[in-house]
Amino acid sequence: MADRIVITGAGGMVGRFLAGQAASQGRDVLAYTSSEWDITGPAPGELAAGDVVVNCAAFTQVDLAEGEAERAHAVNATGAGNVAAACARVGASLIHISTDYVFGAAGAHVPYDIDDATGPLSVYGRTKLAGEHAVLAALPTAYVVRTSWVYEGADGGDFVAAMRRTAAGSDTVDVVADQIGSPTYVGDLCAALLQIAEGGVRGPILHAANAGAASRFDQAQAIFAEVGADPARVRPVGSDRHPRPAPRPSYSALSAAGSTRAGLTPLQGWREALATAVRPLPSTR
Ligand SMILES: NC(=O)c1ccc[n+]([C@@H]2O[C@H](COP(=O)([O-])OP(=O)(O)OC[C@H]3O[C@@H](n4cnc5c(N)ncnc54)[C@H](OP(=O)(O)O)[C@@H]3O)[C@@H](O)[C@H]2O)c1
Repeated sequence: MADRIVITGAGGMVGRFLAGQAASQGRDVLAYTSSEWDITGPAPGELAAGDVVVNCAAFTQVDLAEGEAERAHAVNATGAGNVAAACARVGASLIHISTDYVFGAAGAHVPYDIDDATGPLSVYGRTKLAGEHAVLAALPTAYVVRTSWVYEGADGGDFVAAMRRTAAGSDTVDVVADQIGSPTYVGDLCAALLQIAEGGVRGPILHAANAGAASRFDQAQAIFAEVGADPARVRPVGSDRHPRPAPRPSYSALSAAGSTRAGLTPLQGWREALATAVRPLPSTR
C-alpha cells in the first residue's frame, strides 16, 4: 500500500472522486480544496516525506482562460511548479495531471503517444504544457499524467451528465462531429492514478485515457443508446456551428502504447467505460 495520498484541488471532479476512491480502498487520504491549499501560494505544513501528492488543482475553464491568461498561467504553470518544489523540499512524490489539449496539430489522425511533439492551440493548453515543464524542472522524478475528456456522468456539469439530461427529454440536439478525443471515465482515471501512486510504473510522462477515439457526436449518440433514448435525436454539426473563444484540437486522442510499456495497466475502451458509468434512466426501463 502506498504512503499517504495528498490531493490538491479536492473540490473538483477528479480530486473529489480520487479522494473517495482512495479512502474506499483503505488508504490514508489528506484532501485539500482550493481554499485549504491555494497552489499559487505556500504549501501546507502537514506535507511530509513519503507523501504521494496528486495535483488535481487547475484552472480548467478552457474558454475563460483565453481572456484570463495570467490567472490561468499562475495556477496551471507557476502553481504546478510550486507544488513540485514543495514536494522536492520535503521528500514527497508527485503525480501531476495534464491534458490532451497540449496537442493540436492540424491533420493529426492517430492517437498521440507520450513522446509525440506537443502543440497546444489555446491558452489553457499552453499553460498546462508550461505546467508540465515547471513540474519536471522542480522535481524530475514527478509523474505527468495526461488525460482527456474526463466525465463522471452523474449529475454534474460534465458532457456525459449534460447529455443524459438532454436524453431524458424529447428534443433533438446538435453535437460537433469534427472534434475527436478519448472520452475517459473518472473512475478509470483514478484507478490509474492510484496504480501510479503504488509505484512500479516508469515516468515521467504517461497517458491515462480510456482506449479508442470518438467524436463528441459519437459520444453523445453512445450516451443516448446507453440510457435507452433514440440516438437519431443526436445530429452531427461542424465546430463552426458552435464557435467558442478557445480553439479545440480537431484530434487529440491519446495512445496508451508508451504508458503500457512503462508498466501502467491500459484503461478499458471508451465505449465499455461509458456502459459501466451510465445506467439507464429510470423512465426508460
Ligand atoms: N475534466 C477534463 O475533461 C480534463 C481533461 C484533461 C485533463 N484534465 C485535468 O485534470 C485535472 C483535474 O481537473 P477536473 O476535471 O477535476 O477540474 P475541476 O473540476 O475544474 O477541478 C479543478 C479544481 O482545481 C481547483 N483550483 C483552481 N485554482 C486553484 C488554486 N489556485 N489552488 C488550488 N486549487 C485550485 C478548483 O477549485 P475552485 O473551484 O475552488 O476554483 C477545482 O476544485 C486538471 O489538471 C485538468 O487540467 C481534466
